[in-house]
Amino acid sequence: MAASRRIVLGLKVVLWLSALAPAAWCAAGYFFDWLGANPIEKLTHVTGMTALVLLLVTLAVTPFRRVTGWNPVIQLRRPLGLFAFFYVCLHFSIWMVLDLGFRLDWVWDDIKERPYITVGFTGFLILIPLAATSTRGWIRRLGKRWTKLHRGIYLAASLGVIHYYWLVKADVRLPLRLGAILAVLLAMRVAFWWSKRREKVRRAAVPAASAAAR
Ligand code: HEM
Repeated sequence: MAASRRIVLGLKVVLWLSALAPAAWCAAGYFFDWLGANPIEKLTHVTGMTALVLLLVTLAVTPFRRVTGWNPVIQLRRPLGLFAFFYVCLHFSIWMVLDLGFRLDWVWDDIKERPYITVGFTGFLILIPLAATSTRGWIRRLGKRWTKLHRGIYLAASLGVIHYYWLVKADVRLPLRLGAILAVLLAMRVAFWWSKRREKVRRAAVPAASAAAR
């Protein structure tokens, strides 16, 4: 097995184990009753934070690949994104089932009336088509539209940060730090896009200039 394939395999094992650990911790804590005085708040906290961190790590994969030139890392992007979606689903289900007792009228009232819930719910809705089209078949079927659709992950992550910033009552340092990381990742994407565009323009100009010289 080539060295880079072995490294990717090792990273995938680490990814699966570390991404499943918070869910296993939540399930064990809930069933064995060691989540403290407010278990639902704890579960919402762990699942929300894990979802946001995984979204940011997913967004860091492409900049990492561009900076290091190590292409095999791209194989981690899909499992990372799907794990992020899995935690957003858990986060949403805990709120809907354990917090609101599956009362759909309360769920709807909260979505309508509490701005941070409206924003989080919008982020969740944006992630649904991204997760649904993450298979190879959909990538092939959608072609260039797939890349455009999947840029929605930046919007979902931004809404996740705003949602977190909005619900924090006093100390906003952590949501601001996560927002700064997101801004850096977005700026890197824009810089890569800009340099690719300039390269394209330069390449198009070279044959035109040599044809004019002939
Ligand atoms: C992109 C989607 C989302 C992300 C990344 C996200 C992330 C987070 C984060 C980081 C927290 C703070 C955890 C803490 O420190 O306590 C949080 C809390 C919370 N989220 Fe989300 N969330 C998302 C979507 C949603 C949705 C769809 C709902 C429900 C409709 C929701 C409901 C809540 C609630 C009720 C809290 C706890 C608020 C509190 O403690 O007062 N979130 N979320």
